[in-house]
Amino acid sequence: MKRAVYPGSFDPMTKGHLDIIERASGIFDEVIIAVLINPEKKGLFNAEERVNMIEKTITDFKNVRVESFTGLLVDFMKKKEANLIVKGLRAVSDFEYELQMALLNNKLDTRVETVFLMTNEKYSCISSSAVKQIAMFGGKLTDFVPGEIVKDIEDKFKL
Ligand code: COA
Repeated sequence: MKRAVYPGSFDPMTKGHLDIIERASGIFDEVIIAVLINPEKKGLFNAEERVNMIEKTITDFKNVRVESFTGLLVDFMKKKEANLIVKGLRAVSDFEYELQMALLNNKLDTRVETVFLMTNEKYSCISSSAVKQIAMFGGKLTDFVPGEIVKDIEDKFKL
């Protein structure tokens, strides 16, 4: 059983994330999307909102589920009996940080391997911060986030 964990802040999730999820679901037997609850970094959306938004977009993928976690990723993985981390690489600039994280996670638990998928070039310019900025200034979100969550993001900025 190849069970992979796709970790991130997902504040909010984007079409780039969904592309990685879809491809990972075709490669691994099971994919757990792990939403980090970071007490030091207050996001725009709380953990429940992030998880709910992701749930709306993954209904077609029967082997994918989403959970939130706090603390070390390797500890979450141990609990879930998973030893594969999936991450997307958007550009060379992502590489240095991702290499460091992959090495650190492997040092913390030598059974843990990180597998990288190259982000589809259509989505290589997208980030959650960019989505938040576009939403803040009333820009069109449909090219950047899955249709199911456009309204959730727009509503956040109407409050
Ligand atoms: N498409 C679009 N955007 C993407 C993307 C993709 N395929 N992949 C990443 N991004 C974006 C994210 O939205 C995020 O954007 P933002 O900075 O504007 O919010 C940015 O790229 C960085 O993403 P990522 O590198 O995945 O960071 P993250 O903050 O989302 O997640 C964790 C980081 C959760 C994986 C990592 O901090 C972690 O594992 N923390 C737990 C503690 C731990 O175990 N640390 C390791 C040992 S010290």
